[in-house]
Amino acid sequence: MNIVIIGASGGIGNAFIEQLIMHTDVAQIHATYYHTKPLLNNAKVVWSQLDITNEQSIQQWTSTLGEIDWLINAAGLLHTAEHGPEKTIGQFDVDFFIDNIRINTLASMLLAKHTVRNFKHRRPAIFATLSARVGSIEDNYLGGWISYRASKAALNMCLKTLAIEWRRSLPNVTVAALHPGTTDTPLSKPFQRFVPEGQLHSPEQSVISMLNVLHSLRPNDSGCFRAFDGEQLPW
Ligand SMILES: NC(=O)c1ccc[n+]([C@@H]2O[C@H](COP(=O)([O-])OP(=O)(O)OC[C@H]3O[C@@H](n4cnc5c(N)ncnc54)[C@H](OP(=O)(O)O)[C@@H]3O)[C@@H](O)[C@H]2O)c1
Repeated sequence: MNIVIIGASGGIGNAFIEQLIMHTDVAQIHATYYHTKPLLNNAKVVWSQLDITNEQSIQQWTSTLGEIDWLINAAGLLHTAEHGPEKTIGQFDVDFFIDNIRINTLASMLLAKHTVRNFKHRRPAIFATLSARVGSIEDNYLGGWISYRASKAALNMCLKTLAIEWRRSLPNVTVAALHPGTTDTPLSKPFQRFVPEGQLHSPEQSVISMLNVLHSLRPNDSGCFRAFDGEQLPW
């Protein structure tokens, strides 16, 4: 299998690499980072620097890839050095909202747009993006985090719509939105004190669970929104 991991410098993306290099059926992993190239070196892993907000870079990079069996987009944004997720509407900032949309929503659509050719091989394949339970509109009881929630809700709609199109044009590809569970990474670090005991997963735990989910997916599941434990999440 040829696998693409976007955001492999992140906590969850890196754990995907660590697990997948041990799979004997995985031949090659194309892994991307944005700021700093991770130290992980393995004959199966080819590292590339990629800004997923830049369509031209995505187009150029994907044109160098061959056939893809699985693409997992594990890049994402919740906070920056200047901005945390909003607690109140008073903290709403247009540029921060747009950054969330660019990274959490648009990147997956650009990746889909430029990998159609790489998925045209008729073997069962997967196009998955890390979403988040807080992107569920129905499940939103707490409020707050407007930009992040909205970007993940929009991502879910984009993936669902893509799944419907690809059911006709690329029926071998299963499109999925995955919730990893609260995972101990730089993204969740500032908020971990609010996580009930026992519910903060290591990246390794989250990824092993998500790999079980990914292995269980069939083309009929395309357009699904699943948690790490297989739970079907409400939109
Ligand atoms: N951790 C959790 O509890 C949790 C819960 C629910 C959902 N998620 C979702 O899971 C995914 C992975 O999160 P994580 O916890 O692993 O976060 P993380 O450790 O902060 O990693 C984020 C990744 O996104 C990459 N990235 C950010 N902006 C980018 C850009 N413009 N171009 C390319 N790459 C970019 C980063 O690259 P560099 O580091 O190289 O800049 C890094 O690889 C995210 O979509 C997140 O929303 C996480």
